[in-house]
Amino acid sequence: MELEKVLLSRKSCRKFLDKAVEADKLEKVVLAGSLAPLGLPRVGVPALTVVTDKDALAGLKGIYDAPAVIIVSCPQYPGPGIDHQNAACVVEMMSLMATDLGLGNIYLYGVTAALQQDKLMLTKLAIPEGFKPLAALAVGYSEEEIAVCKELVHKLPVNRV
Ligand SMILES: Cc1cc2nc3c(=O)[nH]c(=O)nc-3n(C[C@H](O)[C@H](O)[C@H](O)COP(=O)(O)O)c2cc1C
Repeated sequence: MELEKVLLSRKSCRKFLDKAVEADKLEKVVLAGSLAPLGLPRVGVPALTVVTDKDALAGLKGIYDAPAVIIVSCPQYPGPGIDHQNAACVVEMMSLMATDLGLGNIYLYGVTAALQQDKLMLTKLAIPEGFKPLAALAVGYSEEEIAVCKELVHKLPVNRV
């Protein structure tokens, strides 16, 4: 797809088919995360945890029964908010790649908020020591077709100075 079409086709998927994502497609989605711009990468880069194991998925809250969830965990940075911004950049790059591949996907914060408090799951998922899960992307085949569903129109207030 050309970029504009991908942007106009991306939307949150909350109904996934009971179908696994092919390993090569999931790998491409994960690779897209590595193309994200990052603040203070010399301090540390985000760590990705790709969850497809059914037992592990069952321990995650608010993932809409997605067959795959990619969790983005960040180290602490000296700049305030850099960790959240880095996680967001990584998730959005993966979201656009997933959309381009015809995969339903949704940006999730809630699952990571719950995960931060769940020591057992943090260990089970082998989230690296000193890293905090901050954002995730749920991926799978959508019940709905991935197609252009948006318009290139202003939805955000814009002040031109
Ligand atoms: C930072 C962020 C956190 C989000 N967290 C959640 C979440 O935990 N659960 C959820 O169902 N949707 C979550 N969403 C998805 C938003 O609800 C969704 O993007 C928004 O409603 C716009 O819809 P669209 O993605 O279809 O354009 C999140 C989106 C962003 C950007």
